[in-house]
Amino acid sequence: MNSPVTTARANVNLALVKYWGKRDTALNLPAAGSISLTLDGLSVEARVGFDGGAADRVEIDGAPASDGEGARVRSFLEVVRAESGRREHAAVSTRSTVPRGVGLASSAAAFAALALAGSRAAGMELDPGALSALARRGSGSAARSIFGGFVEWHRGERADGRDSIARPVVGPGHWDLRVVAAVTSSVPKAVSSRDGMARAARSPLYPAWIAAVEADLAEARAAIIARDLETLGLVAEHSALTMHAVGLAARPPLLYWRGPTVECLHRVWELRAAGVPAFASIDAGPQVKVLCEPGDAERVAAALRDVPGVERVLVCAPGTGAEVVA
Ligand code: PMV
Repeated sequence: MNSPVTTARANVNLALVKYWGKRDTALNLPAAGSISLTLDGLSVEARVGFDGGAADRVEIDGAPASDGEGARVRSFLEVVRAESGRREHAAVSTRSTVPRGVGLASSAAAFAALALAGSRAAGMELDPGALSALARRGSGSAARSIFGGFVEWHRGERADGRDSIARPVVGPGHWDLRVVAAVTSSVPKAVSSRDGMARAARSPLYPAWIAAVEADLAEARAAIIARDLETLGLVAEHSALTMHAVGLAARPPLLYWRGPTVECLHRVWELRAAGVPAFASIDAGPQVKVLCEPGDAERVAAALRDVPGVERVLVCAPGTGAEVVA
């Protein structure tokens, strides 16, 4: 069967209540729910065609994928083949506007785009929930990048993960905020989020972290609905710092931060003391992302640009969900 070559684009997302721990590593089922904001302008475009060559071919940003990245995309294609009943090999190429491997969540955008392009190219018309479950198989956080704006990924109860899907918390355009991202290092991180989560799960603080997520989710959900930046920002900062505290207490310890990461945190707290509502978040990398009002974004960006060691600063508005572009 000939299938259409499909290109889809998806944006990265920033988790405000973090996903950090799995209940099933093979299916990427999370130990708890999470809430994110999809960001505009940091996206991945994926082109997929099941053209039946001798093997799957994977190209990333114009060059053949590395062994690790290629293997990850190929095992995702196996999932698409298993779900669709297709057997042909595929040609995949992705193009990113996100610096890869630096903790700006490009894998979330990549696997959300691959899920949409891959399922369509394989002849499937999945509803958004099923698409989210498929994206999750590539990278947990990709489940959230199927949707725009504020998104909650539900833990789910089922062993097969069909109920572990993301959904929008509110309608599009509900709340215009900004995320200011300070890149403190573009060196690829030494510990992937998969390995980091496995290490964190052995931390003595891990059970307390998982036990607290439900309350953080409820607080974040209510704050989003009420457009209450102070409450949302404080819970987001708390979620991020607690996630990193779990890693610090693991053996061997896990610390994604570099010196400028800490300096950026202090700068955010100074801004807050000066009356600017700005709240920090950090993922599995050294970058600092700051949630603030649109009218404060330039001031926040200038303050972060001023921190020694900050290589560049990006300002992102809320973004849309995954879409087919060709
Ligand atoms: O989707 P993964 O496996 O790359 O994990 C993402 C983990 C964090 O970015 C640190 C948190 C999150 O919820 O996105």
